Amino acid sequence: MSVTCLFGMQWGDEGKGRIVDLLAARSDLVVRYQGGANAGHTVVVGETKYVLHLLPSGVIQPGTLNIIANGVVVDPWKVIEEIDGLSAKGIDLTGRLLISDRAHLVLPHHKRMDEAFEKLRGDEKLGTTSRGIGPAYGDKARRTGLRVADLSRPDEFAQKLEKSLSAWNAILDRAGMEPVDVAAAVAELQGVSERLAPYVADTTAVLVEAWQAGKSILLEGAQGYALDVDHGSYPFVTSSSTGSAGAPIGTGLPPKAIERVLGIVKAYTTRVGTGPMPTKDTTDAGRHMGEVGNEFGATTGRPRDCGWFDAVLARRAAATQGVDAVALMKLDVLSGLSEIKLCTAYEIDGRRIDAPPASAADWYACEPVYETYPGWDEDLGGVRHFDDLPEAAQVYVRAVQAQVGVPIEMISVGAERERFIALDEGVPVAV
Ligand code: IMP
Repeated sequence: MSVTCLFGMQWGDEGKGRIVDLLAARSDLVVRYQGGANAGHTVVVGETKYVLHLLPSGVIQPGTLNIIANGVVVDPWKVIEEIDGLSAKGIDLTGRLLISDRAHLVLPHHKRMDEAFEKLRGDEKLGTTSRGIGPAYGDKARRTGLRVADLSRPDEFAQKLEKSLSAWNAILDRAGMEPVDVAAAVAELQGVSERLAPYVADTTAVLVEAWQAGKSILLEGAQGYALDVDHGSYPFVTSSSTGSAGAPIGTGLPPKAIERVLGIVKAYTTRVGTGPMPTKDTTDAGRHMGEVGNEFGATTGRPRDCGWFDAVLARRAAATQGVDAVALMKLDVLSGLSEIKLCTAYEIDGRRIDAPPASAADWYACEPVYETYPGWDEDLGGVRHFDDLPEAAQVYVRAVQAQVGVPIEMISVGAERERFIALDEGVPVAV
């Protein structure tokens, strides 16, 4: 019996898709439990690159059952686009994909509302992915949302949509945007429902049964813990619970079903969109990370801000989300930097803090407290054993592990599937 949850410990884009892909080979089921098409998980297999937004990363692995669970907000057109895209690359998802009947739908007006809200925020915009995520989760919390199950009752669907749209249209009007036409919105959904029908299921029942039968289940988080709606850098966050704590709610599995939590971090930090980032580096070092690490959003193509590893964020995620082991991604990107900084705490007006603050104003006031380590020049792509890393890289990785407080059990040194170092017991502590 084994249920593993994997999630990002920073501001997203930690390289989760890559690890899910590795672990999916050993899993019977791979499950998305929150977020929506705002996610962008890139998996490279041989010469082929797959970018997945809504489908669980396990779809690339034959033999896995993939589930979009109740906690995800589902853009039906995007799902169909991704199913068709994979089919064109020879991957057939018939019988290998289930979508929860309880998942909420992201409809075209949610995307327009996303833009309208950003417009109304003016200088304080959140830099969302414009995928309708906030408005769709907003409808869910307000209890005015439409769910996948509603697609099978077109008449009721139209009535519910009309009610929901009357409120939204008033806001679109204020933002100077065209109102949404209900009849057109309903018409747009024709056909979608038929295409999705074969995949719709009570995925909670499927998951509980699989768990009880001892199947191996991988729960795949999207975004990162610093973007968590409760625990992240609010309001510069996404609208879901991005940590392992979001998984039981977003799947219907009991919390105690999760046996192992794997946290993913990059060897440095990136952030896309707006909002505070204490370790952002605008010098050549930050540019190096962006260029060598190819730090552009997989969903929006926006360049990501880059900076040093922030142990304040990672420690918080590790301690609160029950992280058993950490995967440290993209260590190879740091090759060529003369020195490497590691943020161990923040200072606000000279006062030291070891945990992330609550308010955005405090976040913006945080000055990072750094330890500085020597860099290395060697290309790490061919390294498969920790002892073969340059001494400086070993020292840095040990320091990261000590700061986060959890064993690092995987280190990635390149984008290709085989480019990683596995450490069963974590990084050996120097004697
Ligand atoms: P939303 O999730 O589209 O509402 O965007 C809210 C914030 O989360 C913005 O700063 C986005 O850039 C960020 N965000 C959303 N999804 C991702 C992701 O998958 N990776 C990194 N940042 C993300």
